[in-house]
Amino acid sequence: MDKLLINGGNALNGELRISGAKNAALPILAGALLSETPVTIGNIPHLHDITTTMELLGRMGVQLTVDEKMNIEVDSSTIDKYEAPYELVKTMRASILVLGPLLSRFGQAYVSLPGGCAIGTRPVDIHLDSLIKMGADIKVESGYIHATAKKLKGCRLVLDKITVTGTENLLMAATLAEGVTIIENAAKEPEVSDLAYFLNKMGAKISGIGTDILEIEGVEKLGVENLHYDIMPDRIETGTYLVAAAITRGKIKVKDTSPDILDAVLDKLKEAGAKITAGENWIELDMEGRQAKAVSLRTAPYPAFPTDMQAQFTALNSVAEGVGIITETVFENRFMHVQELQRMGANIQLESNTAICTGSEALTAAPMMATDLRASASLVLAALVAEGETLVDRIYHIDRGYVHIEEKLAQLGASIRRIPR
Ligand code: EPZ
Repeated sequence: MDKLLINGGNALNGELRISGAKNAALPILAGALLSETPVTIGNIPHLHDITTTMELLGRMGVQLTVDEKMNIEVDSSTIDKYEAPYELVKTMRASILVLGPLLSRFGQAYVSLPGGCAIGTRPVDIHLDSLIKMGADIKVESGYIHATAKKLKGCRLVLDKITVTGTENLLMAATLAEGVTIIENAAKEPEVSDLAYFLNKMGAKISGIGTDILEIEGVEKLGVENLHYDIMPDRIETGTYLVAAAITRGKIKVKDTSPDILDAVLDKLKEAGAKITAGENWIELDMEGRQAKAVSLRTAPYPAFPTDMQAQFTALNSVAEGVGIITETVFENRFMHVQELQRMGANIQLESNTAICTGSEALTAAPMMATDLRASASLVLAALVAEGETLVDRIYHIDRGYVHIEEKLAQLGASIRRIPR
């Protein structure tokens, strides 16, 4: 397994481009299954999860054409299988996103149940119960979801919990259902809106985008000739690199992104003492050489502070001035990074779903092991300031969510290199 070798102590400086959002690209690639005509999707990030999704669609008989700029043309006219096998789903839970499109357009889907993962049990009960309400026949046998539906029927769905991929699956299913579907308590994450804009470009009739009540009027079919759609910027990648600048007391400018999709994160960075300026598609953070001040936060669904940025702020608090209290309300086990940070000397006390961080002057390098995507990013951030040389193992977790992380950080002046297995 690849490892990352990091020498701490360099303040990050410079500019870098942000890639397309992983969590918008995954539902949009699945949504392309709904189109009768080929559709080209641009600004796709070069990530392992994207390769997995392309393999998943390819095995269904979908034709994928990738050009040198990583634009992907998806042509589902040759689809002949409606299955998401366990061997792929176990490596990427988001494979569940093919369920809604397959059921809605082809009336059938055979999808492996996505297991839990390091951060939680990750159930999909809301996805399944809601599709049953729309008229699907769903049986779960030997770890697979067997779903069939002559024609899904629109109805009013009130989701028990705010679920991002749950909202996305139901949104896609509703586009070709008979009649009108109302999704209440819908997730408002920008990636959900990006999917909705994409579906409308294909001819769907979705209103209420960006609110917690989505109304979808079912249509006969979807597909527009020569459609090209570019994925939105990755707000979590943006936030992660801004925290990298804050934790190393540096100054960076991130481009090809937007300040409007991570307000809660920018507010917390300002509270930590960062000077932030922004334009339409760029953000600049300058710590002016200062140590960050500890911040307290609670994760919650958008527009509140995103759970996918919690681990990164736990790392920042570990070397900040003062005490910061971080509460995780979305997932039941998303503090896996804490014990690794404690091995570097971080003073963090865990009490149920709260981490009480008392900033240390400095952390010391120690061999680390990544456990999940965002936790591993927080270990890299800590290693950027730890005294000495840190070796982070199992970085395949990081490669799922960050395009060429060592190249982007090295470009900003970090002393970091990948040790191939
Ligand atoms: C999406 O996961 C993201 N993944 C996650 O990003 C992100 O952390 C999460 O949303 C929250 O923002 C993708 O978009 C591919 P949820 P998702 O359904 O949709 C419970 C990353 O780092 N729930 O919004 O799987 C669930 O247990 C990943 O890129 C049910 O109870 O998360 C959780 O407590 C990690 N039943 C809460 O809802 C259901 O049927 C939110 O989960 C569905 C969810």
